[in-house]
Order: sequence, then structure tokens, then C-alpha cells
Amino acid sequence: MHFTPLLLLLPGLPLGVEAAETVLGAYIFHRHGDRTTKSYSPVSLTSLGAEQVYLSGSWYRNRYVAADAPARINGIAADVVKLSQLAVTSPVDNVLQNSAQVFLQGLYPPAGTASAQKLANGTVVNGPLGGYQYIPVNADSNSASSKQSEENGWLQGGSGCPNAIASSGSYFDSSEYLTKLAETKDFYQNLLPVYEQTFPSAKATFENAYTIYDFVHVSTIHNASDSIPSNDLLTPQTQQRLLTLASEHEWGLAFNSSEPIRAASGSVLAGHIVQALSTALTTPTSQKLTVQFGAYGTFMSFFGLSQAPAASADFYGIVDYASSFVFELVTDADPSSISTDDVGVRFLFVNGTASDANPPRAFSLFGQTETTLKWKDFESEMNKFSLHNMAEWCAACGSTEGVCAGSSSGSNVSSTVSGAGGSSSSGSGGISTAVAGVIGAMVTLAVILGLETLILGVGGLRVVKKKTLRQLDLAQKMSHDDASSMEKV
Ligand SMILES: *[C@@H]1O[C@H](CO)[C@@H](O)[C@H](O)[C@H]1NC(C)=O
Ligand SMILES: *[C@@H]1O[C@H](CO)[C@@H](O)[C@H](O)[C@H]1NC(C)=O
Ligand SMILES: *[C@@H]1O[C@H](CO)[C@@H](O)[C@H](O)[C@H]1NC(C)=O
Ligand SMILES: *[C@@H]1O[C@H](CO)[C@@H](O)[C@H](O)[C@H]1NC(C)=O
Ligand SMILES: *[C@@H]1O[C@H](CO)[C@@H](O)[C@H](O)[C@H]1NC(C)=O
Repeated sequence: MHFTPLLLLLPGLPLGVEAAETVLGAYIFHRHGDRTTKSYSPVSLTSLGAEQVYLSGSWYRNRYVAADAPARINGIAADVVKLSQLAVTSPVDNVLQNSAQVFLQGLYPPAGTASAQKLANGTVVNGPLGGYQYIPVNADSNSASSKQSEENGWLQGGSGCPNAIASSGSYFDSSEYLTKLAETKDFYQNLLPVYEQTFPSAKATFENAYTIYDFVHVSTIHNASDSIPSNDLLTPQTQQRLLTLASEHEWGLAFNSSEPIRAASGSVLAGHIVQALSTALTTPTSQKLTVQFGAYGTFMSFFGLSQAPAASADFYGIVDYASSFVFELVTDADPSSISTDDVGVRFLFVNGTASDANPPRAFSLFGQTETTLKWKDFESEMNKFSLHNMAEWCAACGSTEGVCAGSSSGSNVSSTVSGAGGSSSSGSGGISTAVAGVIGAMVTLAVILGLETLILGVGGLRVVKKKTLRQLDLAQKMSHDDASSMEKV
């Protein structure tokens, strides 16, 4: 086993394709494309955003899927999708779900006559929309062989993790935050003429650094400049400062090295990545490519946990729309007879839409210098901060309610969720995909209902503990007044 030494040298190397290498599987994590501002609901994917994720999907098709792809995933269907090879998930959120759907049109475009089918009586049916391929988002169509689909429920529950919410919330008490709040008071107040209608004086502070940045950023993309009041205040330097401050604010909420639980969504993602790649490795006939859409906050949490900023300080910043990273499972050995010692994993990231002009680049993670790690080193690094199943999630999050009610009293949820072992049936005491979906919805609902109960029970407010009120306040602060979505996308 030898990984080309050139690739081991520096972070951020341009993407190369090695002659003898075989790609066995890949896991893509993706942000949505351009969208309307978070300040007004409903938030929706724009045409520009759809174009961005479509182009990204096409780029990944050309790298991993097409018949002539230079890094074609071993055995993957080139033109007509085989649903058992692909898993696509996204939190329940308009913008993310739509992005995933459009991305898939780039990955597997309408198949034309390739998807035509011949009936018993000889009639050939082409299907509608030129052989458009219907790829489910969120539903893993091969749940019997994939443990992953059964755990989507809690993947969506980053915002339902009490210890993570409390840790994020404590950012607002940190000296870092309070210093910045004071230091930037004038900066935000001076820009009032631009956004006063949306952010009156009391709201124009660092506390709303992200939503203010988002409002201005979206406006500079979509509003004619002469329609933006006092547009001359928005110099490139000012816009850059709005972004830098927003990044600092969001990083503070997403990650703290002293409190890893703050990055719970990154831990859950890491657990999924390891599981998905491990499936691709051990069951080559099954799932090979996983695509997960998620929030920029999850990028940050994951970057913090995996020490991406050691490779480049740029990882502290909010990633652009349609950004993605991918973990490739690669080998130089004959793919029909490999051992895990022959397998490596490489991390590639691209800020914004992937294209030939802006291709994903390899970076080293975990404070190491190599960009391709042996599978077992990768697995052990990831496992230092991964959450693998509902039992671990419940324990780490300090949640004893809802889906976690049973796990806290000693029952090992992981052994029912993922311990199927020899059994290929998901009906043998495991949690079915449908139930997991319901669980996901319930975790979110439980949070929302919990908040509503607090608000509606005005008469009962006296008996509400101080701590609970504080949690309500924090939840509101962190969801940026956007009741339609708990996800920070
Ligand atoms: C063949 O079967 C399909 C589906 O039942 C039907 O729509 C079609 O008219 C049939 N064609 C012929 C030539 O009988
Ligand atoms: C990070 O966590 C430590 C320990 O809990 C705390 O002292 C510090 O203020 C936190 N920093 C931020 C930015 O939240
Ligand atoms: C941009 O346009 C939207 C929709 O018309 C409007 O709500 C928003 O206030 C505008 N932004 C600015 C900064 O003027
Ligand atoms: C992505 O680009 C933005 C600027 O658009 C920057 O602030 C951020 O640091 C970049 N992130 C990475 C990882 O390159
Ligand atoms: C729970 O299951 C996991 C995975 O099967 C196992 O590693 C762990 O030891 C179990 N924990 C308990 C308390 O049984």
C-alpha cells in the first residue's frame, strides 16, 4: 500500500486524480444554494441557488458517476440510478430539501431512452419528463442493508440536544462575546440607515451579527443598488466586516474546544460519515455514495471537532452557498480483494459551487499533515468525537425525554438500532425508517411544543424555573426569530 507522497505534503493541494487509484465510496456534505433572506419567511431557494447546486451536482457526476469519470466510484450505476447505491438525506427544511433535489438532477439527469421499459405486450414506455429520475431525499431506499437510514431521526435533532443548546447559549455570557458586543456597537448603529426597517436600533448589535449580515448580503445580491437606502455605506470593507463578525458569532455558537457537546451536530455527522463509509467498505454491493445536505453551523461544528482550522484559518468562516466537502474512500489495491489496511480516506473541501474552475481541494484534518489517512487511523480520529447512535446522543445531550426516555434507564438503544448483526430484517426489534422519521419530527415538535407550552402557560409562568426561562430565551436568540425552522441554514 502506498499513497502518493506528493499528496501527503501540503494542505489545500489542487485536486489530482491518481492513475492506479480506485474510489470505493464517498460521502458528500453540502450546503444549500442562494436563498432569500432569513429575515422574512418563507425562506426559499432562488433560481440562482438552484443553478448553483445543479452545477455542483453535475461536477460531482463528472468526477464520481459518469461512465468516463476520472474518479468513478467502483461499480456505481452511470446513467440510470440504482437506488441501493445512493443515500440522500436532508433536514426537514424547504431550502435544504429543494437543494438536495436539484443537486440530484445534476448527479443523475433525466436518463432519456436509457430508462425506457418494455411491457409484456411489447409497448415501450419512456416515462415523463424525458426520463426524469425520481430519487428520494431523506428516505434511504435500502434500509435493510443500511444502518444509517434508521438513525436519521436524531440527525435532525441537533437543535433538540439540551446540553448543546445550553453550551451554545453560554456563548452569550463569554468574555469573547461581551467584548465584541461592546466593541462593535458603533459599527452596527452607524449602518442603521441601511437596515433600520428590519433591524431597529435596539436590534442593531453584534447579538444579531448573522441575521444582519444575511439581510445585507442577500440584498446586495438581489436588490438593485439604488433601491437600497444609503447604499453608499455598504463599502466592500463594511460588507467584509459584517461577514467576519457574523462568522465569529456563528463559530462561537457552533464550537468550543472546552465544551465539545456544543458541536453535537458535527459529532452526529461524523458518526454518519464513519458508518456510511464503513458500509461502502464492507458491503461493496450496497450503498456507495451518500449525500447529506445541512446547515453552515454543522460545517463549523464539524470543522472545529476535526481541527480543520489547523490546515487553514479560513475554516473559521461561514462557508459560501453551495459549498461542500467530501470524504473519499480510496485504494491502490485490487478492489475485488482488499483489506482495510489497503484503504485510505481523503477529505476535500470547496468553498462555494464546485466546478472545474473552483474544484474541491484536499486538506489535512485532525492536526495531521497527511491528506490521505489509512482507514483505521481515520476511523479512530473520527471516533474521538463521533456520536454513533441514539443511545450515545441521548447520553451526551443529557436528554431523558421523548425518544430518550428508555435509553436513560439502561436499555441499550444502539443494540436495537444498529446491532442487527446477521439479521438483514429491519423488523426484528430495530427502529424502522418510518418510525425514525417520526422520531425526528417529534424531537423537533417536542422542542417547539415545549416552547409553546411555556409561552401559552402565562398563568403558570410563576412556577417555571429560572433555568427553563433562560433556555427559552436562548432558543429564541439562537433561532434568530425564525419560527419556521430550527435549523440554522
Ligand atoms: C400495452 O399495455 C399497456 C398497459 O396496460 C397499454 O396501455 C397499451 O395500450 C397496450 N398496448 C397494446 C398495443 O396493446
Ligand atoms: C468556552 O468554554 C469555556 C469553558 O466552559 C468558557 O470559559 C469560555 O468562555 C467558552 N468560550 C466561548 C467563546 O464560548
Ligand atoms: C431588498 O428587497 C427586499 C424585498 O423587496 C426588501 O424587503 C428589503 O428591505 C431590501 N433590502 C434593503 C437593504 O433595502
Ligand atoms: C469561504 O469564503 C468566505 C468568504 O466568502 C470566507 O469568509 C470563509 O472563510 C471561506 N471558508 C473556507 C473554509 O475557505
Ligand atoms: C451498547 O451497545 C454498544 C454497541 O453494540 C456496545 O459497544 C456497548 O458496550 C453497549 N453498552 C451497554 C451498556 O450494554
